[in-house]
Amino acid sequence: MKFFIDTANIDQIKEAASYGLLDGVTTNPSLVAKEGKNFRELLEEIVKIVDGPISAEVVATDYKGILKEANELAKIHDNIVVKVPLIKEGLKAVKTLAEEEIKTNVTLCFTPSQALLAAKAGAAYISPFVGRLDDISHDGMDLIAQIVQIYKNYNYKTQVLVASIRHPLHLVEAAMIGADVCTMPFDVIEKLFKHPLTDIGLEKFLSDWKKANQK
Ligand code: G3P
Repeated sequence: MKFFIDTANIDQIKEAASYGLLDGVTTNPSLVAKEGKNFRELLEEIVKIVDGPISAEVVATDYKGILKEANELAKIHDNIVVKVPLIKEGLKAVKTLAEEEIKTNVTLCFTPSQALLAAKAGAAYISPFVGRLDDISHDGMDLIAQIVQIYKNYNYKTQVLVASIRHPLHLVEAAMIGADVCTMPFDVIEKLFKHPLTDIGLEKFLSDWKKANQK
């Protein structure tokens, strides 16, 4: 399973990359806005830190506008994946971009039928938002299971990128289902390492070792 970090914060990306387990980065307009930096300059910094897919989202909502922004973003670096919203104009653009060999990540996916459309359009990634579905009392993971099954049935190459992850169990459930990628906020990545029994066990090993006065 590939691990992406869902942030536009450079310090968080650097820290997560230092663990040696980071495969890529996803951003969105809200995350970029939080940083208060120029979008292009931010992306230029990120591609230097992580050598993997870096999702950068368009803000145009019409076919021509999306293509224009997508082409500008794709020129920044080979690793840029253009994030496009799951709307009609967006999928039309995804189809054209696939023909031009520009990789896309189709975002804001909430149903299996939307995911099927994105795969047919030629998206490299589909981003179903599990946390936001859970928030409205729908089981986000049911959607992941449905998409994984549908893509398997027809051998679609579109990778299932589980987004809007809120806690480590989302990652575990996505991994059990066999999703390709999980994009996680920094705090979730940090939580993956932690268990109180690990800390208690290590403390005991080290204090026993000290008592034994080993040289
Ligand atoms: O980047 C898209 C997605 O991961 C957003 O997550 O927590 O805002 O629902 P969230």
